[in-house]
Amino acid sequence: MRSLIKETSLAPTDLICPIVVQESLTERAAIESMPGIQLLPLSDVTKEVESISDMGIPSVMLFGIPTVKDNIGRSAFDKNGIVQQAASQIKQTFGDRMVIMADVCLCQYTSTGHCGVISQGNVGAGSLHHVHDSDNDNRRFGTIDNDASLKLLTKIAVSQAESGVDVVSPSAMMDGQAVSIRSALDESGFTDTMIMPHSAKHHSGFYSPFRGATECTPQFGDKATYQVPYTNTREAMLELESDVSEGVDIIMIKPALAYLDLVAEARRRFDLPVAAYNVSGEYALVKAAATAGYVDGRQIALEILYSIRRAGADMIVTYFAKEVAGSLTET
Ligand code: PBG
Repeated sequence: MRSLIKETSLAPTDLICPIVVQESLTERAAIESMPGIQLLPLSDVTKEVESISDMGIPSVMLFGIPTVKDNIGRSAFDKNGIVQQAASQIKQTFGDRMVIMADVCLCQYTSTGHCGVISQGNVGAGSLHHVHDSDNDNRRFGTIDNDASLKLLTKIAVSQAESGVDVVSPSAMMDGQAVSIRSALDESGFTDTMIMPHSAKHHSGFYSPFRGATECTPQFGDKATYQVPYTNTREAMLELESDVSEGVDIIMIKPALAYLDLVAEARRRFDLPVAAYNVSGEYALVKAAATAGYVDGRQIALEILYSIRRAGADMIVTYFAKEVAGSLTET
């Protein structure tokens, strides 16, 4: 009877499993703040995707940590870059059996840890994002040149598409990133490559474990001038709306748990598929409490994932993907 009246479903096919590949590694490395999640060497990627695929999870989201960083993040659009190599290996082995998504951003690749490039003084007419000190708003560290950043983001997206990425996922929160990437992809013949931006990506404390593990903590200031403030629902909806009008294929709310009202509102307002990103800090909180014996980690994880589905997300990017997939097939 309980299964008959069950209103919300959750299956491995609703999940996207993040994979972080680090160029300098020769074997897997644990992430201390995220028990159960490892940084992978390139040589382990195919094996990892095999195990994800065997669990019935249809998609992975690739993140890369390059060996070389510079002021414009060149290694992000190198055709032999770490994400490009990982994607082409996955494509070769799995073909259409695995949807390959990839993060499109500069922050792991720039020496500043910012998602855009810092202006060299001579900025174009596009919008600017000033970088402030969080503790002292009067101090300005520098300015991110939005439109110069767009050029780099489009190069990353096209090089990823060339290497086999099916869905590019820009997370830089630069204005106009989706439409710029769409036209660059189309001009390069990648009309079938989809775009799933981190549409309403909030300026959040929930990214710390990821930033620590992937070396993308900003070296000065913070990301408040380009990510969405968590106080603003209407602003988040405007971000989603602009992505819809820029021709994206899937919209995303990020993080998920503290933003379920926005997931529900996005579901009501838009007819595109809605994704939610259950981020590193949300994972780390559960793991820390479970490790201390305060909660049943698996039960809490399922409860969280079901709540995201109940709010209206079609798909969830989550570090719990592999851990919960088995129990979902059984129920
Ligand atoms: C890079 C990026 C971040 C996350 C995904 N892509 C970090 C950030 O914006 O600082 C966070 C993911 C997570 O916490 O799980 N732009």
